[in-house]
Amino acid sequence: MIELFEAGTWQMTAGERATLEGILHQLKPRLAIEIGTAEGGSLSCIAAHAQEVHSLDLVAPSIDLGRFPNVTVHTGDSHERLPALLRKLEHQNRSVDFALVDGDHTAEGVQRDVEHLLDSSAYPGP
Ligand SMILES: C[S@@+](CC[C@H](N)C(=O)[O-])C[C@H]1O[C@@H](n2cnc3c(N)ncnc32)[C@H](O)[C@@H]1O
Repeated sequence: MIELFEAGTWQMTAGERATLEGILHQLKPRLAIEIGTAEGGSLSCIAAHAQEVHSLDLVAPSIDLGRFPNVTVHTGDSHERLPALLRKLEHQNRSVDFALVDGDHTAEGVQRDVEHLLDSSAYPGP
C-alpha cells in the first residue's frame, strides 16, 4: 500500500491526505504553518515538502521530533500562539507560503485562526 494511505498517525481521510500531498508537492513551501499537530500525521507530509514548518497544538506532541529537523513546535492555544508567531515573522519580514488550520474545530475557533492569518502581513494569502 502507498505509505500515504497506511493506517498510522493521520487524523485525515484518504482524500484529504491526497489533496494535501498534491498541493504541497506543487507548492514546495519555504515556510509553512500547521495548527493541530496531534500525532504528527499531516505534519509528516508538510515537513517532507516545506523547508521550515511551525506546528502549533494545545498539548505538547508525544512524537519523535528528531524525525522533523525542519519543524518548530509551539505548545499552547493557537488563538494566542498564532498571532505571536505571526508578529515575529512580520518583524523578520518573513512570508508564510502555506497554512493548515486543523486545530480548534469550532466555527468560532476556525474563524479566529483564519482571521489571524489573513490579518497578518506575513501571510500574503493563496
Ligand atoms: C484533528 S487534530 C489534528 C490532526 C492532524 N492535523 C493530522 O491530520 O494528523 C486537532 C488538534 O488540534 C488541537 N487543538 C484543539 N484546539 C486547539 C487550540 N485552540 N490551539 C491549538 N491546538 C488546538 C488538538 O489538541 C488536536 O491535537
